[in-house]
Amino acid sequence: MITETRIEETVDSLFENIAFNDEPDGLYDPLRYMMGIGGKRVRPRLCLLAYSLFRDNIDESILEPAAALEIFHSFTLIHDDIMDDSDMRRGVPTVCRKWGDNTAILSGDVMLIDSYRRIAKAPAAVLPEVLDLFTVTAAQVCEGQQYDMDFENSNDVSMEAYLKMIGLKTAVLIACSAKLGAIIAGADRRTCELLYRFGYDLGLAFQITDDYLDTYGDSAVFGKKIGGDIINNKKTWLLTRAMEKGEELEKSGAVDSLHGKTALIRAMEMKAGNDAEKTAKIARVKEIYEALGIDEDVKYEIIRLHAQAMNHAGMIGLGKVRYEILHRYADKLLGRNR
Ligand code: IPE
Ligand code: IPE
Ligand code: MG
Ligand code: MG
Ligand code: MG
Repeated sequence: MITETRIEETVDSLFENIAFNDEPDGLYDPLRYMMGIGGKRVRPRLCLLAYSLFRDNIDESILEPAAALEIFHSFTLIHDDIMDDSDMRRGVPTVCRKWGDNTAILSGDVMLIDSYRRIAKAPAAVLPEVLDLFTVTAAQVCEGQQYDMDFENSNDVSMEAYLKMIGLKTAVLIACSAKLGAIIAGADRRTCELLYRFGYDLGLAFQITDDYLDTYGDSAVFGKKIGGDIINNKKTWLLTRAMEKGEELEKSGAVDSLHGKTALIRAMEMKAGNDAEKTAKIARVKEIYEALGIDEDVKYEIIRLHAQAMNHAGMIGLGKVRYEILHRYADKLLGRNR
């Protein structure tokens, strides 16, 4: 059986040795910068992990598709940083800050193209299925990103709409990573589907953790500026839950109007142009979250989704050793602070 250590080593060496076209520098430097810093690489790792459940050695045929997942993901981050007007990513300035938006758009585009070149190297027997899954997923990520931006201007985002949005922008790619590994390893249809659901619920919890860290994380570890979501009026899990709960508690009189939905809407209208305004807005929203106990609620939601993900994994019938591998992956993914 392929060990977790072997998977770690394979992912590391895959990105140490990866080659891209090199000219012009203006196009490829941002790509090398982004891939060189490297993130957590959770998607290729999950892809290899899912693959390893059904194979005894790592065949070349899984490596290019696994790399494609990370390159595609990194492309979405470069464009996401333009959309979210972000200064920092993976502990360094974002591509759009370092090279400008135009370069960030084009380097992102070429990464998307590169990811297709690599996904197309999946074994011929499963290529139609792999390409279909990847293409559907890529379009869904765009749909999720559009909802994410639309929601900045709405104060009426239900929890259901929020979950649909993060399902699209984040969970489907994590789900796709798990399923892709299983398809290429030759697993049966039902198993592939259960791994997709495992990845999907884990992906929801992963985005909710990201939302939590955006407000409560340590910038030096998280690698992004704290409070960006509050400044942009992003409908995170925290804000969506606070709107719901703030409305209920305000109606019942359990909180006053300074700590309920009315107060949140007012806080979202606060200007956040200069640093002092940004700090004031972040502090005000956090004060309301704390009055409503949102920082506690979010932890329960992550635990609930983790259990739901493990439930799908349990239904595969993998046996204890393999089930535990998925369990450790899920624990690590959600116990993160970066
Ligand atoms: C960030 O993804 C965007 C989300 C979907 C939350 P990651 O947290 O996987 O970012 P990197 O790749 O490790 O930097
Ligand atoms: C990003 O969501 C999801 C995608 C890039 C598709 P966020 O906007 O929350 O990601 P971060 O926090 O900037 O990494
Ligand atoms: Mg975003
Ligand atoms: Mg962002
Ligand atoms: Mg975020």
